[in-house]
Amino acid sequence: MNKKTLENTVSKMMSEPKGLLAMDESSPTCAKRFASVNIEDSENNRRRYRELIVTTPNLNNYISGAILFDETFHQKMSTGEFFRDYLEKIGILPGIKVDTGAKDFANHPNEKITEGLDKLRERLGEYASHGAKFCKWRAVITIGESIPTNACILSNCNSLARYASLCQENNLVPIVEPEVLINGSHDISKCDEVTKASLENLFEQLDIHNVLMSGTILKPSMVISGDNNKSRADVSTVAEMTIKRLSDSCPNDLGGIAFLSGGQSDDEATSHLNMMNKHNKDLPWRVTFSYARAIQQSALNAWRGDDSNQSKAQEILSGRAKACSDASVGNLST
Ligand code: G3H
Repeated sequence: MNKKTLENTVSKMMSEPKGLLAMDESSPTCAKRFASVNIEDSENNRRRYRELIVTTPNLNNYISGAILFDETFHQKMSTGEFFRDYLEKIGILPGIKVDTGAKDFANHPNEKITEGLDKLRERLGEYASHGAKFCKWRAVITIGESIPTNACILSNCNSLARYASLCQENNLVPIVEPEVLINGSHDISKCDEVTKASLENLFEQLDIHNVLMSGTILKPSMVISGDNNKSRADVSTVAEMTIKRLSDSCPNDLGGIAFLSGGQSDDEATSHLNMMNKHNKDLPWRVTFSYARAIQQSALNAWRGDDSNQSKAQEILSGRAKACSDASVGNLST
């Protein structure tokens, strides 16, 4: 592990006023997103869509790193250039999602365990040799009746720590993502309680596995009411409780924090981030975004697979990326 290399990558990823773009939907997830706007699911359409994203004018003003799915990482653009090389050329670090998905957790109904540790060392070596600078692994924690269980939290956090240590062995910055799902009717205090348990377990496991904190980025969900809760907490409460949770549960030497959007509307995802950054100027780490849907969805709706909609879709994408960037420094105009 080269501490300097890892810290250098972290500082590029966390540079102001930028954040990360998650464009690492697996092929089945991409198929679902395409189906919602009647786009045929094919490798060529996935390439066309991702090419539209990365060639959006001025994207590199707002985005420091892009998380790719394996297919895109090895794919060439219509120009014949690899996506990963094009991104590096325009100053966006290429990253790669390396987990192989959240699967049913044996003996634990309605819970998931993320897989992907088998042969991970070899896969990471290959990604690094092709220019990847960082990785992502997503664990899913569901709130429901009698869940999450300790077993689910512990097993997922253990896997996240094993993944993170293998990444650092290959000088790749690990993004560790323990996502507490927004789905449900729970209130914000329940979300806080589960987020606390997840983060405390995660940092304990990372410590046990000698993971370098300054070479690690946390991708958390916000502390927020369930999407079906009848009286959802307002923007200030979400921002305050999220910052309190992170301040109480994350070590000061963590490399940085980049939220997922997790099914929040575009406006919610930017307003919450903006509020956090507007009122908390002295946090020990940068707090930014690593959004997929909250950057991409409105552009995908406008594109609908039709080349004649490309510039409109890119304009929308650029607007979303700029709003997220402004929110990441607390400067979003409302
Ligand atoms: O792993 C989750 C994605 O990278 C973030 O997606 O912003 O749509 O929740 P999202």
